[in-house]
Amino acid sequence: MAKQWRNAVVGVGVVGSWHTQVIPRLGNATLVAVCDVDPEKARTALKNQGNESVPVYSDEREMLEKEEIDVVHICTPSGDHMSPAIIAMEAGKNVISEKPMEIQLDRIDRMIETAAKNNVRLAGIFQTRWNDSNRALKAAVEAGRFGTLAYAGCFTPWYRTDQYYRDGGWRGTWRLDGGGAIMNQSVHAVDLLQWIAGPIKTVSAHASSRIHPEIEVEDTLVCAVTFENGAHGVIMGSTAMYPGIAVRVEVGGSNGTAVQEGAMKVYKFRHETPADQELIQKLNAPAGSTMGGSSPTDVLLDQHIKNIRSILEAWEEGRDADTSGPEARKAVAIIRAMYESAKQGGVPIQVS
Ligand SMILES: NC(=O)c1ccc[n+]([C@@H]2O[C@H](COP(=O)([O-])OP(=O)(O)OC[C@H]3O[C@@H](n4cnc5c(N)ncnc54)[C@H](O)[C@@H]3O)[C@@H](O)[C@H]2O)c1
Repeated sequence: MAKQWRNAVVGVGVVGSWHTQVIPRLGNATLVAVCDVDPEKARTALKNQGNESVPVYSDEREMLEKEEIDVVHICTPSGDHMSPAIIAMEAGKNVISEKPMEIQLDRIDRMIETAAKNNVRLAGIFQTRWNDSNRALKAAVEAGRFGTLAYAGCFTPWYRTDQYYRDGGWRGTWRLDGGGAIMNQSVHAVDLLQWIAGPIKTVSAHASSRIHPEIEVEDTLVCAVTFENGAHGVIMGSTAMYPGIAVRVEVGGSNGTAVQEGAMKVYKFRHETPADQELIQKLNAPAGSTMGGSSPTDVLLDQHIKNIRSILEAWEEGRDADTSGPEARKAVAIIRAMYESAKQGGVPIQVS
């Protein structure tokens, strides 16, 4: 019989309250407890979801001592993932950390080392890898359908208000957000780009805050990229582009070009197959019908459900998740290199 995973969530803000809704829907998981430094906030979120019987703690160690827990979900501010994750792993618990895994590579490395030392598993969330169009792009690259890759790019032209940055007290700070539009918002697309088109070798970036006077970090960044396979690329991310439009991922080479922007806008190959048309129709069907959800929340949470299900499946099979610690580290390594380049006026920086 499949294992029943006992889950706890640390940090029940915007995204922690997605996790508390997702866990009971996984089928092989229960939500046994939550922890938040502001327990009233957690209680309100649980009450609104009909989960008021779930115990709420303000101290993670006390929760870990008193409750039977297999997996701890870390949904605290990005620069405060390492401490609660290490506390959980040293107590013998597996950890799922929200994106980005952490904001500095040495902190991610400590998380990865702690998992190995304590013989537990560590995985990150990158739910857009479970978007059907992104999976189709990845499959087409793996099948060699683009021929020699010439170019791949990702664009996150979003918008956030000044109030968004004020809420929570941590967004838009180097210490807890670890950066701005790129580290917080574009990290998904940066991860997709390297996942789909291959490892990135060098980056050359320029960044500044264009419309948010109160933040320390960038609200807009542009970057020229060179992939290890020789292809060229572009990364662009912004939270300064009202009203904010869909993320775009583009891939092109000697035998094909594809553009995914909310749906699969372009999917053209020199050697077409009968399945291509069917795939385009399926991917461009109205949202909801392809996502299988009956309400906007279902659609919103659908990819989190798939991501977390896939992590638990991998662990049950005794292997690391597709979004393991080292895998989730890759996007942060690219982003840190972009920040270093931007700091030095755009000089090319090697991704490590
Ligand atoms: N996967 C996604 O699409 C997605 C979307 C948004 C945010 N996120 C990520 O989720 C994380 C949380 O973001 P958010 O928007 O929910 O933030 P938030 O401010 O809404 O929630 C953070 C919560 O953590 C609590 N908290 C802070 N430090 C804590 C600690 N040490 N122990 C316990 N609780 C603590 C706060 O009281 C708050 O309730 C961030 O890393 C963010 O990047 C992911």
